[in-house]
Amino acid sequence: MKKIVLAASAAVWLLGAGLEFYEGKFETKTLDVGGKAVKFRAYENIVYVANPVDTQYQTMNFYAPTEYFEGGKIGKFDATSAPIFFPNSVGGYMPGKASAPGLKNGKPNTILEALARGYVVAAPGARGRTLTDAQGNFTGKAPAAIVDLKAAVRYLKFNDAKMPGDANKIVSNGTSAGGALSALLGVSADAAEFEPYLKALGAAPASDEIYAVSAYCPITNLDNADAAYEWMFNGVDEYEKMDFSGLDAGGFNERSGKRKTINGTLTQGQKSLSNERKTAFVSYVNSLNLKDAKGRALSLKPSGEGSFKEYLKKALSASFVEAKRIKQISIAPKFIFLKEDGCELEYALEFDNYLREIKRAKTPLAFDDLNLTNPENDLFGDAKIVAKHFTTFAKERGKGEMADAQIIKMMNAMNYLTNKNAAKFYRIRHGSADRDTALAVPLILALGLQNAGKSVDFAVPWGQGHGGDYDLDELFTWIDGIVK
Ligand code: DHB
Repeated sequence: MKKIVLAASAAVWLLGAGLEFYEGKFETKTLDVGGKAVKFRAYENIVYVANPVDTQYQTMNFYAPTEYFEGGKIGKFDATSAPIFFPNSVGGYMPGKASAPGLKNGKPNTILEALARGYVVAAPGARGRTLTDAQGNFTGKAPAAIVDLKAAVRYLKFNDAKMPGDANKIVSNGTSAGGALSALLGVSADAAEFEPYLKALGAAPASDEIYAVSAYCPITNLDNADAAYEWMFNGVDEYEKMDFSGLDAGGFNERSGKRKTINGTLTQGQKSLSNERKTAFVSYVNSLNLKDAKGRALSLKPSGEGSFKEYLKKALSASFVEAKRIKQISIAPKFIFLKEDGCELEYALEFDNYLREIKRAKTPLAFDDLNLTNPENDLFGDAKIVAKHFTTFAKERGKGEMADAQIIKMMNAMNYLTNKNAAKFYRIRHGSADRDTALAVPLILALGLQNAGKSVDFAVPWGQGHGGDYDLDELFTWIDGIVK
């Protein structure tokens, strides 16, 4: 018996060899947050796998307040209890380097804000769709980014005893493509199909389960995103399309106005694609058997109308009411009107006018382009092939190959809602003015998680466009609440 245990721990040690956290290699840094000095140890560029494919991206920056090395506390947290904030830097499914604390226009960025509040921060880098090796083979196509984030989590779990922070309280954060990966990381913990990929990288022998997920405008559920987009935007023919060319991950992530747009009107061909695609959404939504918090079924009729649509509209009008309550706005936009509900007056939303106001940001097909030109087609390429399809609809009508069914599955958080190791807590945000994916997509994710028994905080911040980390006070208050 003893022998077996010894052999087993030796095997674990062998598997993890070279992945031990080394406490002695750090720099001490100090940054000013609102007049208060935040002093922390910075352990940067930790390669988190034993057999990296790319040592620029498969690295993690790890930060912890100096207090935690001196037996001190920040608020209620100390070296053993502090949650580990885990922000990925992925945008546009591009490669994302491990990020660092800093100030932007005098304001602390998310990592610095986390440190100031006593969190330990592990900021992972991850490979992305455009990376190549010396031979010109692609090295960051799906599922590389999610495998990397899992490997980084495994490193933290494997080294938990040696590192400050509680690796049982890892809280992931990300925006857009990074938001999708954050959600996927939370739900797909320890799922068997990722194992061969993690093994090939020499990931640390540990679980990749995390505690909680924060996801801003997740560009997820890619295989149903075209149908969702046309279900919402069908009939809205004006577009302000993004020009993705020349945008690096930073451009995606900062959403800094570097985004160029091309304006136009849908062609007849695009309009008929929209008509065809929107109907697929009805059967998809109905197949999910979604329910609201009171257990009432949310579904759609063949016309595309129904309780699910009413629920989505209500999420939007509730967001307006909240913005009005906190005096963020005073004047109602044209598409908000007062309607009688029994003997009460309540705000409601003219859906078509709302959509015309925010406009489309994408032309059909919004994600799986017939000619494989979208970022998502690029994501689903392989070592040799730059881009592929991930829906049968586009595959049948367009040119090019279909991606591997298993890989398409592995990139969609919706496939893991009932996974037994899935995170318990989720905070999902999608701005009311965000058109990068249909609001239906994050809404379905939130409802699906809620129906699977998870704790879900979902909201549609009023007037907010495509972006993240805009409400750090609320974000960290939420995290403080769930780690208690
Ligand atoms: C992102 C935005 C998109 O519109 C998209 O299709 C994929 C990713 C992003 O900002 O990460």
